Amino acid sequence: MAGNWKMYKTPAETVAFFEQFLPLVAGADHRRIVICPPFVNLAAAVQASAQSAVEIGGQDLYWEREGAYTGEVSGEMLAAVGCRWVIVGHSERRQYFGETDASVLKKTAAALRAGLTPIVCVGERLEEREAGRTEQVLARQFAGGVAGLSAEEFARIVIAYEPVWAIGTGKTATPQIAAEAHAFLRAQARARYGETAAAGLRILYGGSVKPSNIQGLMAEEEIDGVLVGGASLEPASFAAIVGWENGDSILNPQFRPA
Ligand code: PGA
Repeated sequence: MAGNWKMYKTPAETVAFFEQFLPLVAGADHRRIVICPPFVNLAAAVQASAQSAVEIGGQDLYWEREGAYTGEVSGEMLAAVGCRWVIVGHSERRQYFGETDASVLKKTAAALRAGLTPIVCVGERLEEREAGRTEQVLARQFAGGVAGLSAEEFARIVIAYEPVWAIGTGKTATPQIAAEAHAFLRAQARARYGETAAAGLRILYGGSVKPSNIQGLMAEEEIDGVLVGGASLEPASFAAIVGWENGDSILNPQFRPA
């Protein structure tokens, strides 16, 4: 259950979030909980979550270890500050910052080299879905973004299916739409890496995940977890999301979604 904070919160706001969030999820050891704050908050987040099961990740990385690349941060640097995860190829990086399938592959390999678990994002835009091209887009993103990894590397990645039309729009993909896309991605994994690798692949759904729709999404066998943007910024709403298990919440009733 991963939270993507995007470009929100200062270090002080990060500390305040953890003060409220950690008590809410103290019993939630049924899933891995990951929070990905902006780079400048990583040290504060690592420190604030040190005594908890919550793990920290970056939102992007560059593929070189170090060098004259002004403004960039490497996977080794993320690992050194205490990150265990990193988001790669988020649609906002693809849309606004020129990320391509080729750069996603380089960044994914660099994250693995640094010992991080990359959460590789794929997903179609609205016009692509409406034109019936969803599977074609996902196949292209899989082929260009991850299929160049070795089998050993592939076993260590997580994929996030995030239909672009569902991100920040309040329009969640129905659990069925998400499950179909996940099944398609798993079939790509099976074709390239075999049955065992496909069965072991963790695929997260992302796009307007909220306390009110987490139950339906997690009820789908194909959906292994979620990547949450807006609803991960509030301690109570992210706690309500991570607390779902087998159709019920393991959280104290007062933190359950209405
Ligand atoms: P959202 O963002 O939950 O605010 O739709 C998801 C994401 O971009 O990862």
